[in-house]
Amino acid sequence: MAVHYGASRPEAEETLGLLAGGGHMLIGGGLPDDAERIVAAAVEGLGGVDVLVNNAATAPAPANRHEITDVSYADWQRSWRGMLDVNLLGAADVTYCVARHLIARGAPGSIVNVGSRGAFRGEPEFPAYGASKAALHAFGQSMAVALAPHGISVTSVAPGFVATERQAAKLAGDGGDAVRGQSPFGRVGTPEEVAAAIVHLADPASAWASGAILDVNGASYLRT
Ligand SMILES: NC(=O)c1ccc[n+]([C@@H]2O[C@H](COP(=O)([O-])OP(=O)(O)OC[C@H]3O[C@@H](n4cnc5c(N)ncnc54)[C@H](OP(=O)(O)O)[C@@H]3O)[C@@H](O)[C@H]2O)c1
Repeated sequence: MAVHYGASRPEAEETLGLLAGGGHMLIGGGLPDDAERIVAAAVEGLGGVDVLVNNAATAPAPANRHEITDVSYADWQRSWRGMLDVNLLGAADVTYCVARHLIARGAPGSIVNVGSRGAFRGEPEFPAYGASKAALHAFGQSMAVALAPHGISVTSVAPGFVATERQAAKLAGDGGDAVRGQSPFGRVGTPEEVAAAIVHLADPASAWASGAILDVNGASYLRT
């Protein structure tokens, strides 16, 4: 497996150390600019790529909050361009490179995009984030149709609130109970639960799910 990181090499090394078996590698690089180099390094280092997980994103944080009624025009523009650049264009470019690699090899494969519940539920404080994830879901569905003739499945997961390190302060703060209360389970999701959904969709046995957007949100938001 190739573990990609943007700026957090020590954390990526920690992840690498958790992987079973051998032959894994680390690849650093910024998205979208380094997409082609990142994929080329994975193909060379692993001897081929069969599965791509588009997980990298500029996610909501106090520093990039851009509620339309509060934010300056300059910060509004910065948030939109920054989030779409990474969350949509980064994924599109990496997908292009991996898909063309699979097609050239004549190999089947799977691509799983990490979208978000926010695409459906709304992200009033981070509208560019919500729009980028809605676009990522739509991109995945277009790719599912385009790549099915090559035996490549493309799916998305749409997680609700997940207890990643980025969210720790929010969960520990005053609003933590309200966030946990969004789900009738009375808790938020775990990274392991999202990972399990991704592993399921990436499995060749799940190829018939291509085009799907799987809600992973503990029944906190039901789409019709
Ligand atoms: N946590 C949640 O509640 C939640 C809910 C729904 C969806 N999601 C989605 O789940 C995924 C992981 O979220 P998370 O909570 O783990 O967020 P996170 O800690 O902010 O992780 C985002 C990852 O994207 C990488 N990244 C960001 N910008 C990049 C760039 N320009 N180039 C290359 N890599 C870049 C970061 O790498 P470095 O740190 O190495 O820079 C980091 O590993 C994201 O797609 C997020 O939108 C999360």
